[in-house]
Amino acid sequence: MESVLGDLGDLHSHLIPGVDDGAQAVEDSLDAVDRMVRAGVRRIVTTPHVKASLIDHTDEFEAFMAEVDEAWRRVHTVVSKRFPEVDFHRGFEVSVDTPDADLSDDRLKMAGTSFMLIEWPMLHVPQRTERVVQRIRDAGIKPIIAHPERYSGVDRGLAVVGLWRENGAYIQVSHGSLVGRYGKLAQQTAMELLKKGWVDFLSSDYHARSGLKPYIRESREALSDVGADEQFRTLTATNPARLLADEEPLPVQPLFVAPGWWDRIKDLLRGGGRRRP
Ligand SMILES: [Fe+2]
Repeated sequence: MESVLGDLGDLHSHLIPGVDDGAQAVEDSLDAVDRMVRAGVRRIVTTPHVKASLIDHTDEFEAFMAEVDEAWRRVHTVVSKRFPEVDFHRGFEVSVDTPDADLSDDRLKMAGTSFMLIEWPMLHVPQRTERVVQRIRDAGIKPIIAHPERYSGVDRGLAVVGLWRENGAYIQVSHGSLVGRYGKLAQQTAMELLKKGWVDFLSSDYHARSGLKPYIRESREALSDVGADEQFRTLTATNPARLLADEEPLPVQPLFVAPGWWDRIKDLLRGGGRRRP
């Protein structure tokens, strides 16, 4: 259980220095990659924030892209030299802050694939997001919705997440959510999503700043504690590898809560840490 898997992928992080609220210096990026490598990660798609509304402002958008390109070249060179075992790619985390955004620019996609990581603005789900998802999918883009467990506006029954999935979206949950980093409600919602088998990827959303952690080891322990080693593997190794090959993620078995496991789940939801069986 404690051995490092060594073939994990992480598809959501903010490791390009100085372009968003993540890493501010190359040293932050190197420290972040080091933490991920020690947790078993060998494939990274880092995803700086960009607002969809910026795309229509061509001059500003191109200036931003040039800034990201330059910082990316610098950090990619240094990371590749220090961590030759790491496959280091770029995407974006696109905040869909305007429902009619034209997202057809291939540079916004994940590592040259047809997948795109998207989020709703201000951690709140606007009206009719399922139509936005459908429109993105109709444009030939495979949307991955970032951390639904952290939004307000996601109902307890998760109906809106079901609608996103029906309309062709994939779901990324954050490691930190599973271990209480974003509070009990996010933790509970993350577990409910896993119980429904509605999660496709687990990633760190690591912002590479002091005081933060990627929470990869911790989430692995939490899932192992509820008998979900196989799900963890699909969510963190198999499906990220498939994404990089531009293949659809494999379905993930719903988390089965066997009799006797429920107390342990409640323990996790209370943030009570792990107990050995
Ligand atoms: Fe993010």
